[in-house]
Amino acid sequence: MSGIEIERRLPEDFFAAALRDDVLKGLTADPKWLPPKWFYDARGSELFEEITRLPEYYPTRAEREILTARAPEIAALTGAETLAELGSGSSSKTTLLLDALQAAGTLRRYDPIDVSEAALAASSTQLQERYPELTIHAVVTDFEEHLAIPDSAGTRLLVFLGGTIGNLLPEERSVFLGRVRAGLRPGEWLLLGTDLVKDPDTLVAAYDDAAGVTAEFNKNVLAVVDRELNGDFDPNDFEHVALWDPRAEWIEMRLRARRELTVRLRELDLVVSFDAGEELRTEISAKFRREGVERELAAAGFALRQWWTDSEGRFGLSLAEAV
Ligand code: AVJ
Repeated sequence: MSGIEIERRLPEDFFAAALRDDVLKGLTADPKWLPPKWFYDARGSELFEEITRLPEYYPTRAEREILTARAPEIAALTGAETLAELGSGSSSKTTLLLDALQAAGTLRRYDPIDVSEAALAASSTQLQERYPELTIHAVVTDFEEHLAIPDSAGTRLLVFLGGTIGNLLPEERSVFLGRVRAGLRPGEWLLLGTDLVKDPDTLVAAYDDAAGVTAEFNKNVLAVVDRELNGDFDPNDFEHVALWDPRAEWIEMRLRARRELTVRLRELDLVVSFDAGEELRTEISAKFRREGVERELAAAGFALRQWWTDSEGRFGLSLAEAV
């Protein structure tokens, strides 16, 4: 039976409450930080789409190259009836997998899982047109807080693309992978995209592009906080910083105060002071090696069955089986 269903797993005021909590915690901490999920309002999502088209930002193209080459193998190996996708966003790479599963004759259902109901509604409508026979069950949730993989009868393939797992801290990653595993039955599948360790210049350029789009994306979090919490941040008071941490093997994005300043967040009754040069961490983007991915998957109860990279070895795609 085809058709679109949208399930809301979050309480009505979830996002407002979560943003208040995060801002209160992060902006009163030393050093200050904010979680990257607050980049993605409508403007932030648009800026991210723009980032994926930048010459310096290779991960999206590299991952698409792998998917284009491997989707038929993925379909043959998994024989999945349900494609579930975490953080599906605009679902632009999804059609490669849906096409392959459809050609293999196993596809019945697509379950996109995302925090943005608007993105889910738009992509579901679009995909239903392209795949009229497909049952689409979209779930609005925050996969860090309320991860829920919809149950369905046949074999499920859960995909988490884009290297987004790298935005979690190592401890958060293991909790997350454990929950993913708990949501699957033995014999079901996880397809995971991870950006790989490479020379620092290439990495830093991908997060500090010449056109300044990533800088604008980074500063957008201040606009989100301002709007939602009635603040008076001036994004121009901050400078975009992207640096490679060779020990942790992650890129860190920060916002550096250009001068000493204070910001009021009236909704929280909070005044936050920044010293000149003080940095606020807004994102980590961990880069991986095959061994590390395999180890983290194994610790969560997954066996790595296939490992693919793009032709330049920049990005890794893992197909792992729940054991
Ligand atoms: C694709 C969401 C994982 O870490 O590369 C892009 C987001 N941040 N430029 C990444 C991002 C800065 C991104 N994810």
